[in-house]
This record gives sequence, structure tokens and C-alpha cells, in this order.
Amino acid sequence: MAQRRPERWATRIGVILAVAGSAVGLGNFLRFPTQVAVYGGGAFMIPYFCALLFLGLPLMWIEWTLGRYGGGLGRHSLPGIYHVVTGRRWAKYLGVLGIYIPFVIVVYYTYVESWTLGYGVYSALGKFSGFSTKEQMAHALGSYLGTAGDAVWTPTLAVLFLAITLALNFLVVRRGISGGIEKLSRFAMPLLFLMAVALVVRVLTLRDVGVATPAQGLDFLWRPDFSRLGDARVWLAAAGQIFFTLSLGLGAIITYASYLRKDDDVALAGLTSASLNEFAEVILGGSLAIPAAVVFFGTVGTMKLAETGSSVQLGFFAMPLIFQQIPLGNFFGMLWFLLLFFAGITSSVSLLQPLLAFFQDEFGWTRHRATAVLLAMTVVCLVPVVGLMKFGFLDEMDFWSNNILLPLGALVEALVFVGLIGMKRGWEELTRGAQIRLPGAVRYLMYLSAVYLTALFGVWIYQQAVPKLTLQGVAAEARPYVLTCRVMLAALLILMLVKVRVAWQRQRAGYVTPPTPESE
Ligand code: PHE
Repeated sequence: MAQRRPERWATRIGVILAVAGSAVGLGNFLRFPTQVAVYGGGAFMIPYFCALLFLGLPLMWIEWTLGRYGGGLGRHSLPGIYHVVTGRRWAKYLGVLGIYIPFVIVVYYTYVESWTLGYGVYSALGKFSGFSTKEQMAHALGSYLGTAGDAVWTPTLAVLFLAITLALNFLVVRRGISGGIEKLSRFAMPLLFLMAVALVVRVLTLRDVGVATPAQGLDFLWRPDFSRLGDARVWLAAAGQIFFTLSLGLGAIITYASYLRKDDDVALAGLTSASLNEFAEVILGGSLAIPAAVVFFGTVGTMKLAETGSSVQLGFFAMPLIFQQIPLGNFFGMLWFLLLFFAGITSSVSLLQPLLAFFQDEFGWTRHRATAVLLAMTVVCLVPVVGLMKFGFLDEMDFWSNNILLPLGALVEALVFVGLIGMKRGWEELTRGAQIRLPGAVRYLMYLSAVYLTALFGVWIYQQAVPKLTLQGVAAEARPYVLTCRVMLAALLILMLVKVRVAWQRQRAGYVTPPTPESE
């Protein structure tokens, strides 16, 4: 077999923008404001910053370190990386989480991403002009998705925008790390920040409209509220948001970091990428949907709007409605959805790369072949997501990935790092080539993150596992579909485990030459 040439990031800023691109996504502009509103504004922010400090940052460093370490040994996806960095063959099965979780997420994430594209076009065309109530917007979305009985717009459009979104995503990853993902990030990320800043300025200067001022919206977000700190749900939700927004716990960042060189800095890069994401989340994301919604619906109205916990309400209902009431509304509406689309695509490509890397490293496939197979898998799994949307198929996938799989993946990472690699070697790996001096206390943060995660898990199982598993609160007609979704998720996990097994068997039998450590 021909010698494989390792792929690499071309520039340092490129890899940081790519990781920031993965992190800055729909989570920053849709999920974050919704969570804040659900959990009562300032009451959410204290657990949020605790989770950032005690979970987010240590895990970010763990992921960059694991990635560069594994990449130096020739592997770019978690099964291979866990195998080579721990020296234990069974560890590859733990690594299955690093190909399974990104795949599960990418299937529904690209669908939501495609709505932002569709809604961007609709806004530009002025399709929402004259709309003034939430009900009208809900009806419009229902028609767009084909979940409402009578279609105003044919749902085929939703499928069309989905096809465009998939095509764009796969065209990017097909061109590889530096030729595709890096180029996209270097173009999309600065543009994304510019669009966000323009929108923030517009929202914060809203005057003489609505029922409140933007300042009241910011007050809602930033006024500390200590009364709910005893509620475990707020802590769980805050931790969940930190994982999701920083793209942690599923191997996406590990895969990106595996394309670094052996002595490239990871300490400063990890910190920078996390900081960029937090700026985009709390400063930019926090100054858009929340203040805008408070201006038009008041604080109580905003909380009511977000009540269901679905990010659709603020992003797809409230925002377009609000823009209808100001001059140049169609333009700002388009800008909002374009912002979401750019945020989305730089995230979804990072969800595709781990599985592509797995196919290339462990099966010896070319990038083009790997891309074609992954596209086929994605399309097949999207069929029920699109077709059974009405019955909560997408929400179910979202629930399991965010509440269970991400914290589980993160816990495994932390345990592999402190337990199997060991803090001594782990710390050496983290600090080699570092452009900042990390205080030794970061080591304790890493241990602490493992404890924190175990505790969170315990609380979750205690509080929510039984009602969830017994389908409490799920409407009778939706039950078969929710169960179908769970069966599909379980089947996918088994499929991925089998793939890992087969890959290693083929390597042992000599059909495939496993990648070797890179000499530089
Ligand atoms: N971080 C992304 C967001 O905020 C979502 C994501 C999660 C992307 C996991 C990649 C991996 O939307």
C-alpha cells in the first residue's frame, strides 16, 4: 500500500479559527439564550461560569493534548488515539464514543442548520412581512417542515435546503483539513464575528419600540440571583451547555488537534479557542436574542416564550417577528439567519471529520471514498429525522446526545487522561511547546473535572433516569416513534462497535497497514 501522507493544518491561526468555528455554533446564538431564559437569567450564569472553569477549560486542554499526542502517533480518531496513547487494545472500544456521538449529532444538527439557510432566504425575500404573532410564525415553521397539516409552503423546500446544506458540508470536508476546513474557517469566522457585531449594535440601539429597553434585557441576564443555586437542574443544564458550546466530550476537538505537529503549542491554543467561544456566547450571543426578546415581550414574556426549552421559539419565532417591526427588517432578518448558518456549518464540518479520519486511518480508505460512505450514512439516518419530526424524533436524539452522551464522553476522556495516561505524562504532553506557563493547579482542575462529572452523572441518574426511560410525559401517539429513535441510536452504537472490531481485525490480518508514528 502506498505510504499515507499525513494531513496538517497550514497555519496556526487556521487551526485556532477551525476549533473556534467548531465551538461557535447554533449553541451560542440559539441554545445559550434559551437556557438562560428557561433558568431565570442571572440564576443560570453562576453555575455556568463554574462549569466553564471547572469542566470546560480543563477538558479543553485534555482534548487538545490527547489529540496532538495521538496525531503524533499517526492516529486521528478516538478509537485509534485511545489505543495508541494508552497502549491498551481494549481502549479502542471506549474510543467508539468519539465516532458515534459526532455522527448522531451531525445528523440532526445539519437539519437545523438547513432551516437557518431556508429562513435566511425567506427573510431576504420578505416572506415574513406582515407577520405579527407567535402563532403565525409557528404555523410558518410547521409548514416549512411539513409538520403542520396544511402547507403554506411546501415541505419539499425544507428538503431542498437540506440537500444544499449537506452538499456544502461534504464539499468542504472532501477537500481535506487545510484545503477545506481551514479555508472555510478563515473566511467564515471573521465574517461571522462581523455579522454578530452588526446585529448586536442594532439590537442594543433599539429605541421607542416594544415594551422594554435593551438595557432591561441585559439586566435580566447579568443580575446575579443566588436563590436557585440549590437546584441541581440548573447545575446540570449549565454543565450541558458548556459541553455543547465548547464542542467537548465527543472527540471533535481531539480530531482537529491531531493534525498539529508534535511540538505545536496546545496550552495557549486551547485557552484562545475557548475564550473566542465564550466571547461569542456570553457577549455576542447574550446581547442578541435575549435583549431583543425582552424589548418586545418583556422579561416575563421572554421566559414564557422559552419555557418549552426549545431553541426554535427565540431564534425562529421571536427574532423574525422583532425584525418585522424595525426599518430594514428583512435585511436584518437575513443577517441573523446567515449568522446562524455560518456558525452552523463551521460546527458541522467538525462533526464529520472524526468519522472520516477513522475510515481513512483504520480502513485505509481514501478521503473521497470515506466522504462518499459518510454522506450515504448521513442521508439514510436523516430520513426518519425529517419524516418523523412531528413526533419528536429530533428532540429525542438531541436529548440523549446532550444530556447523556456528551457528559459520558467527557467523563471517559478525563478518566483516560488522569487514569490511563497518568498525570505525569499528560502534563508533559500539555506543556511541551506551550506558549504560556500553565499554573500547576491546572492539574488539580483536571482531577476535579473527573469528580465533577461523576457527581453530575449521579445526580442525573437519581433525578431523571427513571422518568425518562419509562417515557413519562411522552404523548401516547408519539411513543412508538420515540422508541424507534432509541432503537436506531442503539443500533448505530452497535454498528460502530462492530466497525472498530472489523477494522482492527483487518489490520491484524494484514489487509490494511495501520498508520505509523510520524517521523519529523
Ligand atoms: N459547539 C457547537 C455549538 O455551539 C455544537 C457542536 C457540538 C459542534 C459538538 C461540534 C461538536 O453549536
